[in-house]
Amino acid sequence: MSLLTRRRLLRRAALSATAAGAARTGLAGATLAGTAAVAVSGCDSPPERNTDADPDGGLRFPDGFGWGAATSAYQIEGAAKEDGRGESVWDTFSHTPGRTRNGDTGDVAADHYHRYAQDLDLMRELGLRSYRFSISWPRIQADGSGRPNQRGLDFYRRLLDGLHERGIAPMATLFHWDLPQALQDDGGWENRDTAERFADYADAVFRALGDRVPAWLTINEPKTVVQNGYIWGHHAPGHRDEAAAYLVAHHLQLAHGLAVQALRASGASGRIGPALNLHPCYPADDSAEAAAATRLYDGYENRLYLDSVFKGAYPQDVLADLGPDSRMVRGVRDGDLKIISSPVDLLAVQYYTPIYVTGGGGTVRKWPTSEAEWQQIYPEGMYDILTRVTRDYGRVPITITENGLPCPDTPGPDGTVDDAGRVSFLRDHFAAAHRAVRDGVPLESYHVWSLLDNFEWAEGYDQRWGLVYVDYASQRRVLKRSAHWYREVIRRNGL
Ligand code: FCB
Repeated sequence: MSLLTRRRLLRRAALSATAAGAARTGLAGATLAGTAAVAVSGCDSPPERNTDADPDGGLRFPDGFGWGAATSAYQIEGAAKEDGRGESVWDTFSHTPGRTRNGDTGDVAADHYHRYAQDLDLMRELGLRSYRFSISWPRIQADGSGRPNQRGLDFYRRLLDGLHERGIAPMATLFHWDLPQALQDDGGWENRDTAERFADYADAVFRALGDRVPAWLTINEPKTVVQNGYIWGHHAPGHRDEAAAYLVAHHLQLAHGLAVQALRASGASGRIGPALNLHPCYPADDSAEAAAATRLYDGYENRLYLDSVFKGAYPQDVLADLGPDSRMVRGVRDGDLKIISSPVDLLAVQYYTPIYVTGGGGTVRKWPTSEAEWQQIYPEGMYDILTRVTRDYGRVPITITENGLPCPDTPGPDGTVDDAGRVSFLRDHFAAAHRAVRDGVPLESYHVWSLLDNFEWAEGYDQRWGLVYVDYASQRRVLKRSAHWYREVIRRNGL
């Protein structure tokens, strides 16, 4: 791999979702262009701003629009050793000194495993129509294979029943990064067999819970596992091995396709699709070099995952850049792309930030960043990525499964949490999504990240992304201003 490619990859990784740790060390390579480096920008803007209001005073979403919120198992559940749950790579990683901020772990997190009924009531109070959560693989198969653990399945059945009782549609992700440690010990996602193990796990879940789940997502953000887990190393499993990283990408894509096939074979009626964090990539300037570099960057950020699922081929420019001798290219077998491109029913898009690419393949920032330094606040990027996906990949139904902002929220003297900046952020992004719908994007639902403050991976509990504040000492929940505002948005079905 050439030096230029290597530098590019590292820069890309540093700017990826949840790469704040890397950025903090000053290794990110990105420069601030044209923005004031405000520590927590986005969190102190007034909520009254509505940049996109229709003249008639409102933005109404399609009837039945699925307003929702999202979480993931390791980030909220806690109960790390209960009811037969095995260890995941994130248990190992977070318990390794120096890996997470303050040495935080998901051992207790938001204690959702014990408080799920209360959390379901909060969802009802908010008026949520959809809830996107993930199933913990090591709760279902402690070692990543074999007979499913009934107690683990029972927890999710209770959760699903509670959602249905409250009229909230479940959307279940099969894998949100908590790979059973036993599989990691056998090579993890570098080992092709892990994709087969994933299909078996998925099959067990479909057979046990398929009657209660109308929508499934296979793998959350494969790109983040590739970049943060295997290139930059600040996510589990903490490797820095560029050659391995793209073989991992292929095996994650393969696992996705095998799970889609397993759902069809199980006879369960739910819909299924991938959950991809997509980054609109823009040239940093008008040069031909920047345009070319942006094109390749887009290949690594977006087309690698989209083209394989929707076109049955990896993008040629990325394959050429990796080279024929790369572990990934050598790891692709006949028939793999056919599996990966098994027809899906929906595409889950997670949008947080744009990327601006220079002629040299580096990146610059053009907009204020949030408390998560990898996140530039640019609502227009939401519109761009949604319309682009529809233009380039056809009218597959789209759900937004993540979008949100971290803020340094603290309760005031009266106990309320005034996250006015989050209200403003969400309003602008909802407006951008609304414009995309108006321009023909088949967007069905929108899940704010996140329902609750939670364990933000390498950032531990420092970053608060929730609509609902969690006081970790007492586990008390407080609806933030954004939650009250969101309830009104849902009630009115628009802004
Ligand atoms: C996404 C992850 C999610 C959360 C948000 C802030 O990349 O899928 O778990 O960490 O970022």
